[in-house]
Amino acid sequence: MRIGVAREIKPDEYRVALTPAGALELINAGHDVAVETRAGEGSAFSDESYARVGARIVSVEEVWGESELLLKVKEPIAAEYGRLREGLILFTYLHIAADQALTRALVDSGVSAVAYETVETPRRALPLLAPMSEIAGRLASQAGAYFLEKPFGGRGLLLGGVPGVAPGRVVVIGGGIVGYNAAVIALGLGAQVTILERSIDRMRHLEEILSGRVSLLMSSSLQIASSVEDADLVIGAVLIPGALAPKLVTREMIADMKNGAVVVDVAIDQGGCFETSRPTTHSDPVYVVDGVTHYCVANMPGGVPITATKALTNATLPYVEAIAGLGLRDAVAADPELAKGVNVLAGKITYEAVAEAHGLEYTPLDDALALSA
Ligand SMILES: NC(=O)c1ccc[n+]([C@@H]2O[C@H](COP(=O)([O-])OP(=O)(O)OC[C@H]3O[C@@H](n4cnc5c(N)ncnc54)[C@H](O)[C@@H]3O)[C@@H](O)[C@H]2O)c1
Repeated sequence: MRIGVAREIKPDEYRVALTPAGALELINAGHDVAVETRAGEGSAFSDESYARVGARIVSVEEVWGESELLLKVKEPIAAEYGRLREGLILFTYLHIAADQALTRALVDSGVSAVAYETVETPRRALPLLAPMSEIAGRLASQAGAYFLEKPFGGRGLLLGGVPGVAPGRVVVIGGGIVGYNAAVIALGLGAQVTILERSIDRMRHLEEILSGRVSLLMSSSLQIASSVEDADLVIGAVLIPGALAPKLVTREMIADMKNGAVVVDVAIDQGGCFETSRPTTHSDPVYVVDGVTHYCVANMPGGVPITATKALTNATLPYVEAIAGLGLRDAVAADPELAKGVNVLAGKITYEAVAEAHGLEYTPLDDALALSA
């Protein structure tokens, strides 16, 4: 298959959808890989590093015009809509339920679009979102530790303490992938860590894998209020699938926190779980409410593109290999996880929630496959 890797043009996006290592795997399997010039630059992969493994370095027109399968990281932006065309398979983060203009562009163009974020295992895990949650969780503790330092507006506290001086208290609300990874790094820094969770099964699992090194408490309004009041750093990491994040920490709770404490709202991409949260960017990551520093960067992994690119491509490569090896039709027939990723097939919306969100026609994937046969 002719596989293309487009350069990301969305502002502040430095990731790329394929590493040279991934390109070599695909080339060894007999595929043709074309990489848009400078596509890997933001992740420290030069054109030369792709050329060395046998990829062709091509222009933006060639990569969009000649590929059968186009790999990207972010959804196409308006400037790219004109490049969508019938017959092209696009594999990328799409998030189209919240983007009517892009949904229309995909439908009108007749493209097939597979979304990373809706690839789903039978146990309802999201394997192509998980690596970004791992990164965001780990960064959350790192950012929190940094903004607790006095010169950056914090209380002036070392999270790990030193012998004879107590460590800082970190409270993580939500013990999923983000929360677990935040806890691991906070523990590594030497902090005293509490995780508030709602799922007892998840708490049992965390107890096992963290071998009792964190306090695990049932998440309730009362517990949140008392834990947050004592905390130096609070990390918001809850998720209710398909819904906005619940506002678990109220403005009053923030006002009761210590002066110079820090909150990191990782759930900001779902609206945030602190009442006082609003999205920020890597170039201006924090603001202060009632003496508490708020870090609410909506695309945290974007700050570490080298790590994020490698983690993302590790997770996407098996699906890319399947689509390239079998063709989209046979690949989705063979793998229900990948089938869940198909949002648009030859211009037909095959993901019910997307069709519903925009009041557009929904065509079940099997019907769309039959129509396009
Ligand atoms: N800002 C970023 O850059 C970034 C990056 C990755 C993920 N995220 C976001 O981080 C959030 C967490 O993602 P995840 O992958 O860890 O999800 P996850 O599903 O693995 O974990 C969420 C956890 O929250 C728990 N939970 C739900 N309601 C709760 C409550 N009231 N109190 C305590 N816990 C509760 C669930 O039981 C679950 O264990 C999501 O909103 C996700 O979109 C943001």
